[in-house]
Amino acid sequence: MENKYRLIIAYNTAQMLLVDKVLRTAGIQTELVPAPPETGTVCAIAVKIDLSELENSSETLKQNDIKVKDIIEEKKLKLQGLIDEKLGRAVTAEFINILRKIENGDGLNKDEIVYLLSTQKPREIEAIYTAADRIRKEMVGDVVEIRGAIEFSNYCCKSCNYCGINAKNHGASRYRMNEDEIMEVVHDLYKVGIKTVILQSGEDAQWTTERLIELIKRIKRETGMRVTLSVGEKRREEYEALREAGGNNFLLKIETTNRELFKEIHPDDDYDHRIQCSKWLKELGYINGSGNIIGLPGQTVEDIAVDILYFKEMGINMIGIGPFIPAKGTKYENHPHGGIEETLRAVAVTRIVCKKVYIPSTTALASLDKDAQVMALQCGANTIMLISTPEEYRRSYRIYDNKNMVDMEAAVYAVTKAGRKMPEYIKIMKKEERRMKNDE
Ligand code: 5AD
Repeated sequence: MENKYRLIIAYNTAQMLLVDKVLRTAGIQTELVPAPPETGTVCAIAVKIDLSELENSSETLKQNDIKVKDIIEEKKLKLQGLIDEKLGRAVTAEFINILRKIENGDGLNKDEIVYLLSTQKPREIEAIYTAADRIRKEMVGDVVEIRGAIEFSNYCCKSCNYCGINAKNHGASRYRMNEDEIMEVVHDLYKVGIKTVILQSGEDAQWTTERLIELIKRIKRETGMRVTLSVGEKRREEYEALREAGGNNFLLKIETTNRELFKEIHPDDDYDHRIQCSKWLKELGYINGSGNIIGLPGQTVEDIAVDILYFKEMGINMIGIGPFIPAKGTKYENHPHGGIEETLRAVAVTRIVCKKVYIPSTTALASLDKDAQVMALQCGANTIMLISTPEEYRRSYRIYDNKNMVDMEAAVYAVTKAGRKMPEYIKIMKKEERRMKNDE
């Protein structure tokens, strides 16, 4: 049977957003969805419309002088064989129904997501992880992307209650790297073949947008690397200027979509404004990162289900999911850390729902157990972030306690143990891989 949806593929993100806006203004219902693999990179987004709106949409685009790359039938990701006889009585009828929807590539609703996040039946959990791993393989393949993160300043003007470097934590020892120090690390990363550098910091007024712009330009000029920014909330003009300077990706996590909880953990921030920032980033053509923390005080599985639906509806491209870990000197220093199992489940269900996205196997998971990073790779995750902050500073970037300093060796360990591939472009791999193999 013919599929009843069509995907409009645009030439770039800005055009895709324009298409979406023009169609919506004409009263046509649209949805932003990840574009299928054959139409572009991992982060390409398409505009989905109902088949019955096809003619109307084409006409509207023509009237507005918008030429698109292609309009194709939406092919759902079909997964055969998730349901097999062996599941038998070990799973509920409700679970079988959800699996059937996953097999058919149909979207899941909140109740179904809650079910997947909360089931304790071993056979059901196994089937969820298997589905997530298969979807990961279909959508983004076996290579684990490796990125280098430079945490270049831990000065912060915000007082987020969970974060160890919040402004009110006077126990935190502060540092701020300068341009030359940062460039030294950038060049080290470049030498081993890493293609993306993540610049992360607290919201530090000394590291102004002007300085960041000069830094991005310098990175581009000297290495041509892709730049991911993770520097918090800014004005739209600033995001725009950083994008023009060469910023490619932006990480700005929502942390939780529960409004009350958001307010409770972010006394200085406004929930709607955070979402507005995320929308601006998308409009400006950034590859857009978000994510949440699992195990925040009072957070429920319903909250996590809504987070996952939010990532999907916002068309988020990179989704960082980590367990809460207490940080000394903060309001929640005695609150227990989030569970590894709960976090892995959120990773798996996010992969099942959001499909073609980057999901890091987070440093926070590695901080609870180095094998948790292996497990995340096996149930949906496909990237690893190396902590590339210089030795003399990294210990002070204490957003939570006992943070793991994931290095290349740890990344090779996780990738190899998970049975996956390092990117071809990483140069020092060969030797280390050999050593890993010899040790087995
Ligand atoms: N526990 C877990 N994650 C944390 N982060 C900050 N503090 C904590 C904590 N105590 C995460 C946030 C932020 C990212 C840089 O680190 O999700 O977006």
